[in-house]
Amino acid sequence: MSKQLKILVGTVTGNAELVAEEMQYTLQDDFGWQVQVLSMDGLDAEALAPDAIYLVCSSTYGVGDLPDNAQDFFDEVAAKKPDLSWLRYGIYSLGDSVYSGSFCLGGEHFDTLFSGLGATRIGEIGRHDASEDDLAEDCGAAWVRGWIELTG
Ligand SMILES: Cc1cc2nc3c(=O)[nH]c(=O)nc-3n(C[C@H](O)[C@H](O)[C@H](O)COP(=O)(O)O)c2cc1C
Repeated sequence: MSKQLKILVGTVTGNAELVAEEMQYTLQDDFGWQVQVLSMDGLDAEALAPDAIYLVCSSTYGVGDLPDNAQDFFDEVAAKKPDLSWLRYGIYSLGDSVYSGSFCLGGEHFDTLFSGLGATRIGEIGRHDASEDDLAEDCGAAWVRGWIELTG
């Protein structure tokens, strides 16, 4: 598994997808990684295969819920409970601090799920605050430059 990364995207209005694409360009062009951006729509639990490191890039809706396009994948992994002790992953979570009680919980739900199945998180969770921070894609690309150095 050399320099292979899969970014799993959960989004409603497209911000997380823009972030993932900007991360993809950054990691391919500046760090020599091979990066696939995958919408969580239609993914099943078997999509998690030990040929790559994973990065979940997801926004937050409802009151700390996942975007609709990520819910089925999340529920399937939670139900099947695969052994993910091989999995190394990162989390970049998008939210808005006006939702003070549920800020960025979308990505954090995946952290709880994956770590509970034995996976190992790389680095701290990245967070984008739509009320405070610069453009999500700029913040995400800056964050991923530091994060990718931790994968070695
Ligand atoms: C109806 C609605 C509910 C939201 N609920 C939350 C929330 O509970 N917590 C949070 O941190 N952000 C919440 N947000 C903010 C979004 O997660 C944020 O705007 C994000 O950048 C959207 O990314 P996306 O375009 O990839 O879906 C909510 C936004 C909307 C429109």
